[in-house]
Amino acid sequence: MSSLHIRLFQKADFVFADSLRALAGWNQTPDDWMRFLNHQPDGCFVAEWDGQPVGTATTTIYEDKVAWIGMVLVHPDARRRGIGRSLLEHCIAFLKPRVACIKLDATPLGKTLYDTMGFKDEWTLRRWETARVELPANPMKYRVRRWRDVDVATLQALDAEAFGAVRWQMVQRMTWIGARALVHLTPKQRVNAFGILRRGARAHYLGPVVADSIAAAGPLIKSFLTELANQPVYWSRADEAAALAQSELLAHSILKELPNQPIFWDIPDANTCAVELAQRLGFQPQRTLIRMFLGENNWPGDPQKIFALAGPEIG
Ligand SMILES: CC(C)(COP(=O)(O)OP(=O)(O)OC[C@H]1O[C@@H](n2cnc3c(N)ncnc32)[C@H](O)[C@@H]1OP(=O)(O)O)[C@@H](O)C(=O)NCCC(=O)NCCS
Repeated sequence: MSSLHIRLFQKADFVFADSLRALAGWNQTPDDWMRFLNHQPDGCFVAEWDGQPVGTATTTIYEDKVAWIGMVLVHPDARRRGIGRSLLEHCIAFLKPRVACIKLDATPLGKTLYDTMGFKDEWTLRRWETARVELPANPMKYRVRRWRDVDVATLQALDAEAFGAVRWQMVQRMTWIGARALVHLTPKQRVNAFGILRRGARAHYLGPVVADSIAAAGPLIKSFLTELANQPVYWSRADEAAALAQSELLAHSILKELPNQPIFWDIPDANTCAVELAQRLGFQPQRTLIRMFLGENNWPGDPQKIFALAGPEIG
């Protein structure tokens, strides 16, 4: 008799988990797995079949309002045995007493499973991709700089309004390793947008980007792309001073090949301003995902303020 057992994800599972991630062609890195485990050590799971690891799932709780299920992966040789369903049931049983609403961003294959478990569609989003960016021909200076500790209260409020719950701890963790984090300022120096560009296994990942308007998000995103095209070196904390100096950017090229890797950018379809910007900058649609929820969707956030997701695996 074959047996299925679901247990907590441990540090020793990183190698297996990342090999599963690579088999599916996903973009997360070992840093992402580490972030899941740091944020929710009691809510990340591994499925074992006959004592061998065959599947993963992570959960991420934001206050007592919303939680995300992510990284639902089953080894291709072990599919259609009920492992994906069991992982999901395990995540739901863990989350139900803790939050009012459970969400996830489903692939078409995942949706076939989630539909049978009572998840409802919320909105669609699309992954956009480019290997070369179209930047403004005329030199222009953006009011964009590296984000600082003093910005945090403003950024957290901006983010919670857009996302629907406070997820700041998770967002801040994304800036620790291999990432750039920028803010956009009004003429009166008020912060009205922030964003992160981070490393992925297959592509640079643009997101999250949260802003009160396209007027704020546009320059921020163009700044990221200009920097990446001109100087593909990620900042570390030690580079803070240099990064500040570099953040006064001049966009001067029309079409730039990106070195090494393309960029992925996940945008809610409802944010037509962000979609139009992606198209203007040379991005192509890659695949569609569906945001789904289980429970009371009382904190939907505002997709018009979400110019890039933090990631389908975390919202
Ligand atoms: C999606 C995935 C996790 C499902 O895992 P799994 O262990 O094969 O799923 P289960 O055996 O528990 O299947 C549960 C139900 O989902 C549906 N389902 C799963 N795979 C399906 C497929 N290929 N076609 C149609 N329905 C499917 C069926 O309703 C199935 O029930 P059934 O077998 O009784 O018909 C797995 O296919 C996978 O890892 N895919 C790649 C990564 C991915 O897309 N993950 C989802 C992220 S949102």
